[in-house]
Amino acid sequence: MTGPRPSRTMERLRRRVLAPLFDRLGYDLVPAAPDWSHRPTSPREVDFLLSSAAASLERDLAASGIATSEDVLERTRDFWTLIPTAPVRQRRGGSGFNGALQLYVAMRALAPRTVIESGVFRGLTTWVIRQACPAATIHCHDPDLSGLQYRDANATYSTADWSQADWSRLDPAATVAFFDDHVSQGRRVIEARRLGLTRLLFDDDAAGHRIHAHGGPAHPTIAMIEALRDRAEPIRWQRNGRAFEQPADDPLAREAAAGIARAHAFDDLHRATGYSPARLTYVALHPTRDTTLGSEGRAA
Ligand SMILES: C[S@@+](CC[C@H](N)C(=O)[O-])C[C@H]1O[C@@H](n2cnc3c(N)ncnc32)[C@H](O)[C@@H]1O
Repeated sequence: MTGPRPSRTMERLRRRVLAPLFDRLGYDLVPAAPDWSHRPTSPREVDFLLSSAAASLERDLAASGIATSEDVLERTRDFWTLIPTAPVRQRRGGSGFNGALQLYVAMRALAPRTVIESGVFRGLTTWVIRQACPAATIHCHDPDLSGLQYRDANATYSTADWSQADWSRLDPAATVAFFDDHVSQGRRVIEARRLGLTRLLFDDDAAGHRIHAHGGPAHPTIAMIEALRDRAEPIRWQRNGRAFEQPADDPLAREAAAGIARAHAFDDLHRATGYSPARLTYVALHPTRDTTLGSEGRAA
């Protein structure tokens, strides 16, 4: 199941009238069919796709320092069965197959009791997190929740920035924060560290030589923070005619770098699965000693 298909009449209207009109205006009008609605169906090809993806994910979990007793190939098979049932249809603007698979496997391995999600959009990643962690408490933050296609019955939702929320009852050691919110990743690292969190996942972690391909580039990204540890010249790029610069001596990047114990960018999985490249990065922070957490909180 991949949600309702566009009706034949609608599809005919799109092809014959709307798409040519949009084309003349410089836009592409395409059906919102998620990438996973296209898939191999012969058993040998399905096995090859799943075992290639699982091998890649196993390498990434090890390189991230995430110890797990999960059978990654089995979890990848589970995901293959689950993803066609996703209640969100999205072709653009959020995770596709590869990003959702990475998030599912990483969340299974990290097994948090609490998840903070910043950047919800239609709710696909909330649904993925719920499939991976059925008993977790999930806190969702996004200033615009008007496009939700999946609202988790047991999650909390807020349009306030996560940094403004009251986390006095949070147990940082049992929490994973997932940021897919187009906000400076350096800022998110510093905010997370203040709360004593040590396990973070970031989507859209683009390196300096790739960030020109991103809309609304939030910087410094984790890859930039790592690159700026030992260089003095700024990172510069342009997008839609606008020039951007990430200074090398940015105090925010320096503070974030000091808090990062380990960062690992997962393989994009495109070669393994053929789906659009994903960009998940795991970040382990140095534990903080002086957290101001309340009753359930404890300094890691
Ligand atoms: C790429 S989308 C998230 C996609 C979603 N995680 C998925 O893969 O399906 C980015 C979202 O970040 C949200 N956003 C923008 N500023 C934010 C902020 N300060 N805090 C949280 N979310 C924010 C946008 O409204 C948008 O819905």
